[in-house]
Amino acid sequence: MKKRVYNFAAGPATLPYEVLEASAAALLDFQGKGYGIAECSHRGKDFDAVLDETITRCRSLLAVPDTHDVLLLQGGATQQFVIIPMNFLSGPADYVVSGEWSKKSADMAKTVAGDKIRVIASSEATHFDRLPSPIDADPNAAYLHVCSNETVHGNRFAEWPSHPTLIVDASSELMSRPHPVSRTALLYGGAQKNLGLSGVVLMIVRKDLYDRIPKSVPKILNYKAHADAKSCLNTPPTFGIYVLLETFRWMERQGGLGAIEKRNAEKAGLLYDAIDQSNGFYKGAVSDKAARSHMNVTFRLPSDELTDKFLKEATAKEMVALKGYRTVGGIRASIYNGMPVEGCQLLAAHMKEFAAKNG
Ligand SMILES: Cc1ncc(COP(=O)(O)O)c(C=O)c1O
Repeated sequence: MKKRVYNFAAGPATLPYEVLEASAAALLDFQGKGYGIAECSHRGKDFDAVLDETITRCRSLLAVPDTHDVLLLQGGATQQFVIIPMNFLSGPADYVVSGEWSKKSADMAKTVAGDKIRVIASSEATHFDRLPSPIDADPNAAYLHVCSNETVHGNRFAEWPSHPTLIVDASSELMSRPHPVSRTALLYGGAQKNLGLSGVVLMIVRKDLYDRIPKSVPKILNYKAHADAKSCLNTPPTFGIYVLLETFRWMERQGGLGAIEKRNAEKAGLLYDAIDQSNGFYKGAVSDKAARSHMNVTFRLPSDELTDKFLKEATAKEMVALKGYRTVGGIRASIYNGMPVEGCQLLAAHMKEFAAKNG
């Protein structure tokens, strides 16, 4: 293997080397055919088999029931912030704002639906250092929208809320653990954190929602039209879908989502222990420990100077992309499925050594 550093980027993010290697090989030559997987028609036999296997493995890994479709779309999660209300807003909808991304999703939904979008709970007043509480969603609301893991602030719903029509932006924790698909009306997210390349959105949608889609929705934005066309209404991101397939194969080799969840909890635990055992040198950006993300670990040092020094010394130890998001500052270690346990061990050791020297 070519030498690689530990890359803590928030997305696009580090991917398992085996996935990269297999994908790179298929990009050059797909199954010895003399052409690569990105060079053949999305309507041909080769890609059709890739698509079928990708969807089958996704359904199996996530235990997706027959009531739900698996769609592979484009436009990022951001585009879905607008298309979801266009398709499914049969009346006022409730939004929970727990960080940068759920705030954006509510704001963008308002651009198409105005005051039908109701923010029913927000933790913005405390800089999203916790989840909003209480969450009193109207059971008759068209849907309840939440972001299950806030990438920028580093909080998560350890358990997803309940609603008859629960919609979840799971972008930054997608398939990092099993998800309660059967009690979720729609779950979606970009692939570029846990699953592969940007340009692919995985969406799992309960089919009864299609009845709500107004006739006025243009076909290319109509989720039912995408489902009917097996996500090939137009040319899909074929290579991104191939990488997804290799990621799903890799996930199965890891033992499935239960085993992956355990490993992710172990990785996050190493970093949170380093924070908690630092006598206050590191301050977690999320004060409610139960709401700490297992994907994006956010913390601050006593000063900007020490933060810069911490980052510089981390780079020298071959750990990169640890700088916090511009509005939050401090450090953010994104430790998606592709981050090995050894990366978190090295970072935890750096944190302990740095605190001992500079505390
Ligand atoms: C939780 C969450 N939702 C939505 C998005 C937006 O995704 P995209 O840039 O693919 O539109 C991001 C991107 O980081 C995210 O972290």
